[in-house]
Amino acid sequence: MASAAASEPLLRLRKVSKIYEAGTQAVVGLTDVDLDIFSGDFLAVMGPSGSGKSTMMNILGCLDVPTSGVYEIKGIPVSSLSPEALAVMRNREIGFIFQVFHLLPRYSAQRNVELPLLYAGVGREERAKRALEALRSVGIKDRKDHLSNELSGGQKQKVAIARALVNRPSLLLADEPTGNLDSKSGEELLSILTRLNAEGATIVLVTHDLAIAKYARRIVYIIDGRLVTPEEYREMRG
Ligand SMILES: Nc1ncnc2c1ncn2[C@@H]1O[C@H](COP(=O)(O)OP(=O)(O)OP(=O)(O)O)[C@@H](O)[C@H]1O
Ligand SMILES: [Mg+2]
Repeated sequence: MASAAASEPLLRLRKVSKIYEAGTQAVVGLTDVDLDIFSGDFLAVMGPSGSGKSTMMNILGCLDVPTSGVYEIKGIPVSSLSPEALAVMRNREIGFIFQVFHLLPRYSAQRNVELPLLYAGVGREERAKRALEALRSVGIKDRKDHLSNELSGGQKQKVAIARALVNRPSLLLADEPTGNLDSKSGEELLSILTRLNAEGATIVLVTHDLAIAKYARRIVYIIDGRLVTPEEYREMRG
């Protein structure tokens, strides 16, 4: 994914809207979002609870599809890809750090981190080596044999981050990654993200905290499913 031409965004959203059908009620997730994200970007998406941040991340990560509008990766509309092509791309190119960790509780930390490599067909020895490397890079290698349900919230988050990094994804999507961490662990995580970005990863980070958004090179603001200017954001948020 890193090979997008300089003038062409890696990710492009055009008039992307998402309407959820919740029972008989239609709920707006996103409305007419236009956004270009370039290779090497470190973008923060800031907005209050319920503003559509996770909805946008799910679309960027191809976990969900827009109701209308076009999402392109390297100029290719995602809607034109086969389910197989999409799954391969998601697994090889995109790392997710979710608001909730999605660890398998009865698996050890190391085994959780190895899972994306298993899906990618990486052999056993290489899997172990890379999982341990990823666990070390987030400072949680000493817990490699603990079952994930024996870990604290912050430790689980680190394992989830190691899992997101283990494939060396070119695009890293982080949805409130510091939400469950104390300030020291949060700062550690942000410095890891900064390092990965310096090494070439494209990062999209969701947060409602300006202090965290400031780690990014660029910030976009979202309210009620729409991107707004910083001025509009300040006005609307008081
Ligand atoms: N699966 C769903 N079904 C119905 N409505 C949904 C669904 N997911 C999200 N929504 C609605 O879409 C809107 C945007 O939700 P979203 O999860 O994107 O917000 P968010 O900005 O990530 O909030 P938070 O900061 O609390 O995580 C909300 O009104 C929410 O209730
Ligand atoms: Mg969310």
